[in-house]
Amino acid sequence: MAAPVKLHEEIELQVDSLAYGGNGVARLNGFVVFVRRGLPGDRVRARVTKVKRGFAEALATEVLEPSAQRVEAPCAHYPACGGCRFQDLDYTAQVAAKEAQVRDSLVRIGGLPDPPLEPILPAASPFFYRNKLEYSFTQTPSGPALGFHKAGRWDEVLEVEKCWLTTDLGNAIRNAVRDWAREEGLVAYDQAEHTGYLRHLVLREGRNTGQVLAMLVTHKGEKFERDYFVEVLRRFPEVRSIHWAINDTLSEVTNLPSTLLWGEEAIEEELLGLRFRIRPNAFLQTNTEMAEQLYALAIEYAGLTGSETVFDLYCGTGTIGLAMAKDALSVWGVEISEESVACALENADLNEISNAAFFAGNVGQSIEELVERAGSPDVVVVDPPRAGLAGKALKRTGALAASRIVYVSCNPTTLASDVKILRQEHGYELIRARAVDMFPHTPHVETVALLTQVA
Ligand SMILES: C[S@@+](CC[C@H](N)C(=O)[O-])C[C@H]1O[C@@H](n2cnc3c(N)ncnc32)[C@H](O)[C@@H]1O
Repeated sequence: MAAPVKLHEEIELQVDSLAYGGNGVARLNGFVVFVRRGLPGDRVRARVTKVKRGFAEALATEVLEPSAQRVEAPCAHYPACGGCRFQDLDYTAQVAAKEAQVRDSLVRIGGLPDPPLEPILPAASPFFYRNKLEYSFTQTPSGPALGFHKAGRWDEVLEVEKCWLTTDLGNAIRNAVRDWAREEGLVAYDQAEHTGYLRHLVLREGRNTGQVLAMLVTHKGEKFERDYFVEVLRRFPEVRSIHWAINDTLSEVTNLPSTLLWGEEAIEEELLGLRFRIRPNAFLQTNTEMAEQLYALAIEYAGLTGSETVFDLYCGTGTIGLAMAKDALSVWGVEISEESVACALENADLNEISNAAFFAGNVGQSIEELVERAGSPDVVVVDPPRAGLAGKALKRTGALAASRIVYVSCNPTTLASDVKILRQEHGYELIRARAVDMFPHTPHVETVALLTQVA
C-alpha cells in the first residue's frame, strides 16, 4: 500500500493500541502509523517523522481528545524525564497493553494463532520498585545536580528531586550526594565539551535486606576528600559499601573496575529465601519483589521433582539456578560476565548449595563442553538479553533435546521468533506462557514460557 502520509505532514490520528517499544498505534485506512507520545484511546494531532513502505512514524504534538485511560502522572519530572514513559496511562491499561504485545508477537512472529497465554502478572508495587538506579551529574546555576537524561536526549540531564521509581531512602541518599558535591565545589562532567569531573552515581539497594551500595563515577584525578565523602554517606546507616570508579573515556558507562572506599566489597539481597551478593556491576533483576514472582513462575514451569539435571543458561549471578537447586539433582550455569560468575559461585557457597556449578562463557560456544561435563539436561532454563537466543545458541539449545525448556524473556519479539524455530526445527511445543510486569511506566515486559518436546 502506498503511504497515505508525507514526511513532516500534520495529521489527526485515533490511537487504538500500544506497540511493543511504547509507541501508540493508529491506522489511516489500514496504513499503520506509530505515534510517539500517543496513548490508546487518544485522538491526537501528530507530525509525521518517518515514512516507510509499510508504515509511518509520527510524534503527537497535541492531544485533541484525551483517552479515558489517561491519569494524572504523580511525578513532577514527568514527562521531561526519560525514566518513565507511561505514568499518565492508567496502570490497568498499561498491563493490558503489555499482555496484548506478548500475544501479538506470538501470533504474528511466532506463527501461533491461539497462543497458550495466561493472564499477565501485574507489578505488586507500580511505584518505588527499583533496587538500582544510575544517576548522571549535570551542572546547574546552583552547582552540580543529579538526575536522568531527558527523554530522547543523550546530552541533557534533568535534575531530579524525587524519583518515583526508587525509595525515600534512595532519594535521600542521592540528594545528600548532590549537596556534598556542591559543598565541595566540584563540577559535573560535561558530555559535549568533555570537561568537568563528576559523572555518575550508582545506588543499589537490597530491598529485602535494607543494605545499600553506592558507587561514585568521576573523570580522572582525585579531586575529592575520600573521608568526607564516606562520612556523608555513612550518615545513612543502611549504606554498607562505598565504591569509586574512574571513567576517562568518552563513553557514558558505569560498568567499570572500582576502588572500595569503605565498608563491604558487596551488599546482599534476599530472593525467595536465598541470599545474593551484589557487587557494583553484577547483574541483578532491578525489581526485587517481581523478580521473586518471575523466578517462582520459572520454578513452577520447570516442574522439578528432584532428579533433574538443569542447565541455567545466561545465568547472571545464578539467581534462577540457585532458586531451583533444592528441587533438582544438579544445576549447571553459563554466563558471559566473569564478575557475575564469581558472584554465582559465591552465592552458591553463601547459601550452602553444593549441587550447582557455574562457568564463564558464551552460551553458543559453551553448550557442547557443558554436556561433556554434566551430561544431557532434562530441563534448560534460558534468560537471554533482548536479542534472544540468536544463531548458534538457539541451534545448540534446541539440539540439547531437553524435555522442558523454560524461556525467561525480556523481549516478546525475539521470544516469539525463537519459539517458532524451536517448534519448527526441534520438535517443541509452547505449552504455557505468562507475561510479567517488572517495570511499570516503561515499555518493558518480561515473559516466562514453557516449551516441551513432543517429537
Ligand atoms: C537477562 S540477564 C539474566 C540473568 C539472570 N538469569 C538473572 O535473572 O539475574 C542476561 C544475562 O546474560 C548474560 N549474557 C549476555 N550474552 C551472553 C552470552 N552470549 N553468553 C552467556 N551469557 C550472556 C548477561 O551478562 C546477563 O547476565
